[in-house]
Amino acid sequence: MMTVKTFTLYLHLMLFTTSTGECPSPCTCQNTNTEVYCNGTGITEIPKGLPITTISLNLGSNQIKGVPKDSFTGLIHLQSLDLTNNQFKEGSIKDGALDLPSIADLDLSINDFTSIPQVLPPKLIGFAIAYNPIQTLTASSFVKYPSIQYLTVSNTNLSKIEEHAFDPLTSAINIAISFNQLEDGGIPLTAFFKNQNLTYLSLRYNNIKTFPNMTYFPASLQNFDFVGNPITVIPSFGFRHLPNIQVIEIRDSTLSTLADYAFFGLTKVTIIDFMDDQISSTITNYTLDGLTALKTIYLADNKISKIETGAFHSLTNIQDLWLSDNKLSTLDPGVLDTKFMPRLSSVFMDFNPWICDCHLKWLREKMDNATYTIMYPHIIVCSGPPKVTGKAWDVLKPDDFICEN
Ligand SMILES: *[C@@H]1O[C@H](CO)[C@@H](O)[C@H](O)[C@H]1NC(C)=O
Ligand SMILES: *[C@@H]1O[C@H](CO)[C@@H](O)[C@H](O)[C@H]1NC(C)=O
Ligand SMILES: *[C@@H]1O[C@H](CO)[C@@H](O)[C@H](O)[C@H]1NC(C)=O
Ligand SMILES: *[C@@H]1O[C@H](CO)[C@@H](O)[C@H](O)[C@H]1NC(C)=O
Ligand SMILES: *[C@@H]1O[C@H](CO)[C@@H](O)[C@H](O)[C@H]1NC(C)=O
Ligand SMILES: *[C@@H]1O[C@H](CO)[C@@H](O)[C@H](O)[C@H]1NC(C)=O
Repeated sequence: MMTVKTFTLYLHLMLFTTSTGECPSPCTCQNTNTEVYCNGTGITEIPKGLPITTISLNLGSNQIKGVPKDSFTGLIHLQSLDLTNNQFKEGSIKDGALDLPSIADLDLSINDFTSIPQVLPPKLIGFAIAYNPIQTLTASSFVKYPSIQYLTVSNTNLSKIEEHAFDPLTSAINIAISFNQLEDGGIPLTAFFKNQNLTYLSLRYNNIKTFPNMTYFPASLQNFDFVGNPITVIPSFGFRHLPNIQVIEIRDSTLSTLADYAFFGLTKVTIIDFMDDQISSTITNYTLDGLTALKTIYLADNKISKIETGAFHSLTNIQDLWLSDNKLSTLDPGVLDTKFMPRLSSVFMDFNPWICDCHLKWLREKMDNATYTIMYPHIIVCSGPPKVTGKAWDVLKPDDFICEN
């Protein structure tokens, strides 16, 4: 039998336990109760008695349906809150429940929100709401959250961004709107005009067919990720409003034409990744003109059949040239003139239908003693003339490259 005295002690201990923050079951707590993991424990409610020392709290992958107003009361150190993969929707988070100015990072991904909740912490810096059926961002979506710097609205079935939706996000540095249904016209011309600190924008895997008009894109952009959109043309001077861009990624798209001067004025770009596109236009003396800082260009897995002699001559810092898996059958010696490209280090040119005759002898010689390395000679295979068809460059010698008539 429990005496009144032991009961009082028990009560004391219990109070002591909750207020100083023992780890509530079934959570696990680490780093002197600053990291609290209740994720994947099957809970249906937010545990009571979370340690006041909690800095990061993971409640992900559970069956929690609601966030009552007092859920996090007193957690004045809470900075990072993970509510991913539960069953939250409009109204699940009670007004005031997340009203903690200490919360800087919130992840609501994999839930059932159909709009941006208006009950978010007041001083958010990182906010993710991927995998929710949101469809539309409106002019009021982010009005209450001007402090957000890192925003992820990917995989949200987004088909429309209304005028001014991102205007409040004047501190935004990263915006990812990837894996959505945005089409031409789904993004207003001035969508990012107010995001003058934006450095990274991902529109990866949307359904945009026309190269976006970037007149009102912020000049601060450094990284433009347009992977997986069904565009066909990069027009002349298309990027001229992005003078600070450093990385351009348009992989896995239907891009077929790079217009002359497509990258003109882009003196800070170091990486261009156009792997696995459908580029069939000639790489002319002017296509890549102006890319003086470019170090790596991925043009592998395309349909390029012609590269003009001076095509790479303005690439004075180029190191890695990826031309594998194209339709190249020959190349003029001037194309790889190291006088223009003193830092050229690796050339990838396997899987092209090379005609290994006297016109390509120079390139086979370069394999032996150029200042750059021709990569993977064992898979650089000749498509002609008949005598050497099917032979790889590691077994052929320069003298095998002959013109017969
Ligand atoms: C909880 O999340 C952490 C990462 O934050 C992960 O390492 C851990 O495996 C997860 N636990 C469960 C039970 O899913
Ligand atoms: C995505 O949005 C479209 C309307 O734009 C709707 O018909 C469709 O059901 C939505 N799909 C999902 C998975 O929410
Ligand atoms: C933009 O970035 C600069 C430099 O990091 C910073 O000083 C400024 O406060 C930022 N502007 C906004 C609106 O966040
Ligand atoms: C882009 O938009 C600006 C501003 O509306 C307009 O002046 C310009 O002609 C447009 N450019 C293209 C290529 O459509
Ligand atoms: C391209 O540049 C090379 C080297 O400067 C030059 O010899 C060639 O005539 C140019 N081709 C065209 C089509 O302008
Ligand atoms: C490079 O090697 C080729 C033989 O493959 C030879 O004819 C040529 O003289 C060499 N060039 C230099 C600069 O060593």
